[in-house]
Amino acid sequence: MRLKDKVAIITGAGSGQGKAAAKLFAKEGAKVVIAEWNEEQGKQVEEEIKEEGLEAIFIQTDVSDEVKVKSLVDQVMDRYGQIDILFNNAGIGFSSKSKYTMASLLKTPFDDWNKVLNINLNSVYLMSKYVLPVMIDQNRGSIINNSSLNGILGVKGADAYSAAKGGVVALTRVMAVDYGKHNVRVNCICPGAIDTPMIAEVLQNKDIANNYASGPLRRVGQPEEIAYAALFLGSDESSYITGLIMPVDGGWSAQ
Ligand SMILES: NC(=O)c1ccc[n+]([C@@H]2O[C@H](COP(=O)([O-])OP(=O)(O)OC[C@H]3O[C@@H](n4cnc5c(N)ncnc54)[C@H](O)[C@@H]3O)[C@@H](O)[C@H]2O)c1
Repeated sequence: MRLKDKVAIITGAGSGQGKAAAKLFAKEGAKVVIAEWNEEQGKQVEEEIKEEGLEAIFIQTDVSDEVKVKSLVDQVMDRYGQIDILFNNAGIGFSSKSKYTMASLLKTPFDDWNKVLNINLNSVYLMSKYVLPVMIDQNRGSIINNSSLNGILGVKGADAYSAAKGGVVALTRVMAVDYGKHNVRVNCICPGAIDTPMIAEVLQNKDIANNYASGPLRRVGQPEEIAYAALFLGSDESSYITGLIMPVDGGWSAQ
C-alpha cells in the first residue's frame, strides 16, 4: 500500500502506460482518477479496477482544453477534497500520424505542429495550472510528467513531438524550482520505446523494431516498467527527489 489514502489523477489512463499506472496505483491504495478523452477506454479501465475491489473513477477529459481541465479538477475536489499525485501522461505520437504529421520540420505543416504541441505540451501546462493551487494549499504533492527520449536526444522523424517533449523536460525543471518551497515535487520520466498502442504499428516494421531493441537491455519496454517508475516518484519514498529527468529506456540514452 505504497499510495495509501492518496488521490492520483492520471491523464491518458485509458491505454498503454497510463492504464498500467492506473492499475498499479489503485493496487497500492490510491483513489485513481482516469482523465481520458476516449470514453470507451476510460470506462473499461475504471471497470477493470473496480472489479478488483479497488477505487477508480473515469472523468472524460480533453487535457488540451482549458474548460474541460478546470471542470476535471473541480469534480475531483468535490469528490475527494485533495489531490496528491498528478501524472501528466496523455500524449499523441506515431499512432496518430494519419491525423497529424509526424515528420521532420520541413515536412510538418504549421497546423499539425500547433496541434501536436497543444496536446503534448500545453496539456502539461493546463493540468498543472489547475492542480498546483490545490497542492500549494495542501503543502504537499507530486507531479510526474511523461516526456520521452525525444525530449533529451536528437531522435529523427517527429520534430513537433520532440519539441513538445523537450518543452516538458524544461517545464519540469522550472516547476520543481518554483514550487519546491510548497513541498510540491515535480519530476519527469523519459521512456524509451515502450510496447503500447502508440508504437504498435511502427513495431510491425522489423528494422525499426530491431533498432528499438538494440539498447543495452536488448528489448523494448513494457508499460508496467514505466508505471513502477511513476509509482516511486508519486510515493513518499521519493520525498527528497524533485527536478529529476529520469530515462526509463533499457539504457538506450547511456550509449
Ligand atoms: N510508447 C512509447 O514508445 C513512448 C515512448 C516515449 C514516450 N511516450 C509517451 O508516453 C505517454 C503515454 O503513451 P502510451 O505509449 O501509453 O500511448 P497510448 O496511445 O497507448 O496512450 C495514450 C493515451 O492518451 C490519451 N490521450 C491522448 N490525447 C489526449 C487528450 N488530449 N486528452 C485526454 N487523453 C488523451 C489516448 O486516448 C490514450 O489513451 C505519452 O505522453 C507518450 O508520448 C511513449
